[in-house]
Amino acid sequence: MLSKSIEAALNQQIRIEAESSQAYLAMAIWAEVKGLEGISNFMYSQSDEEREHMLKLVKFINERGGHAHVSELKAPSVTFSSYKAMFEKLLEHEIFVSESINELVHISLQEKDYATHNFLQWYVSEQIEEEAMARTILDKVKMIGDDKGGLYLFDRDIQQLTVSSAADNPSA
Ligand code: FEO
Repeated sequence: MLSKSIEAALNQQIRIEAESSQAYLAMAIWAEVKGLEGISNFMYSQSDEEREHMLKLVKFINERGGHAHVSELKAPSVTFSSYKAMFEKLLEHEIFVSESINELVHISLQEKDYATHNFLQWYVSEQIEEEAMARTILDKVKMIGDDKGGLYLFDRDIQQLTVSSAADNPSA
C-alpha cells in the first residue's frame, strides 16, 4: 500500500511525464512544419515514449492500492528560434526530469518504501540514457552549425538513432 505522500509524489511525476509528452509533441509538430521530417519523426517517437513512462506510473500507483490522477498540464513551447534551440530545450528538459526522479527516489528511501524504490530504478536508468542521447544529439547539432548539407544528413540519420535506441532498449 502506498503512503499518501508517496502517492502524491508519484502523481506529480505522472504530470511531468505527460507534460514531457506534450512538449515533445509540440517539437515534432514544429519540425514537421519546417520540413525537417527526420527530426519530426524522432520527436514524435520521443513523445510516445514519454506517454509510456506516464502509463507505467499510472499502473504502478493503481496496482499498489492508490489512485492515479490525470491533471491539467502546463502548455509547452510551440515555436523555437532554431532546431538547435529546440534540442537545447530537450536536454534542459531531460535534466529537469532526472532531478525530479532523483527526488522521488529520495522520498521513497526516506519513507522506507522499497517497492517504490525498486520500481523507480527503471526510471533512473532511462534518464541516464535519455540525457546521454540528448547530449550526443546536441554535440552533433553544434558541429553542423549553419551547414545546410550537414543538416540534411542529420535529419536523415536521426531516424536511425530512434530505431537503434529502440533496438537497444526494447522494453522502453
Ligand atoms: Fe520520461 Fe524523458 O523523461
